[in-house]
Amino acid sequence: MTVWNPDLIRQYGGPGARYTSYPAATRFHEEVSLGDVQRSVAAGNRAHRNLSLYCHIPFCASVCYYCACNRVITANRERALPYIAHLKTEIRQKAALIDRQRPVVQMHWGGGTPTFLSDAQITELVYELARYFHLLEDDRGDYAIEIDPRTVDRARLGLLRGLGFNRLSLGVQDLDPRVQQAVNRVQPVAMIRRAFEDARAFDFHSINADLIYGLPWQSETSLAHSLEQLIALRPERISLYNYAHLPARFKIQRQIPERTLPSPEEKLAMLVRAGGMLQEAGYELI
Ligand SMILES: C[S@@+](CC[C@H](N)C(=O)[O-])C[C@H]1O[C@@H](n2cnc3c(N)ncnc32)[C@H](O)[C@@H]1O
Ligand code: SF4
Repeated sequence: MTVWNPDLIRQYGGPGARYTSYPAATRFHEEVSLGDVQRSVAAGNRAHRNLSLYCHIPFCASVCYYCACNRVITANRERALPYIAHLKTEIRQKAALIDRQRPVVQMHWGGGTPTFLSDAQITELVYELARYFHLLEDDRGDYAIEIDPRTVDRARLGLLRGLGFNRLSLGVQDLDPRVQQAVNRVQPVAMIRRAFEDARAFDFHSINADLIYGLPWQSETSLAHSLEQLIALRPERISLYNYAHLPARFKIQRQIPERTLPSPEEKLAMLVRAGGMLQEAGYELI
């Protein structure tokens, strides 16, 4: 059992980078030249290193008020067309540097919302990747895609599985209707449950669920209730994010009144309670 030390957390607490990438996006800089990239890729070729591919699809059809992701909100599906064309060019340019023998053992599509794209566009992109990279066709790779449950049905999940994706990451965030409304992300528990059932029917190897603690109107009790419902669906992984509220940087977060946010003390209580519940349910802390 992990022991949480509230005094230590208080002592070193404070806002920091959200490690969705390593290094965190705030540490990216422009001092890496094309030559550096080419040399590094060439060294990987000589060492026959395995590959991991990441594809970013930045579009979302509607905005969640907490969102700090790199995304473009638009109802206009046409916006994806020039982006896909650029992405295809980039796939070709990158692939030209890489030894075709190197297997892609991991692939991740993130966003935004990758399923903003139509079935035909998703298929086209997978085809393009398979044309230029050595994708594994025997289901041994870890091929994952981020899913906004509002954008998929059974047929879509079947298509994704057929195209070779075998891991899903579902954006759950919170299951409390009041919280969902406050962040403009209404997705009833029944919708989440259906997404899980459909994914299980297609034998996805692993399902991750994103949750956030520290959202408006959340309390230790409400979060525990959401977590209970989520644990019942047995996701293989749960990513429990600490809500990063930076309204000066992410303007959309100004839609969330400060008075509705839980205090740092409450957030700490949520973390401790959630950590305990997850470990009791058999989850291992990473
Ligand atoms: C790119 S999104 C996931 C895919 C998809 N767009 C969705 O929302 O379902 C990555 C995850 O980052 C988390 N996230 C976004 N903004 C955040 C913030 N301000 N603080 C903490 N976590 C955040 C959410 O849990 C979200 O699911
Ligand atoms: S949380 Fe996901 S769906 Fe919501 S705005 Fe951000 S990227 Fe888009």
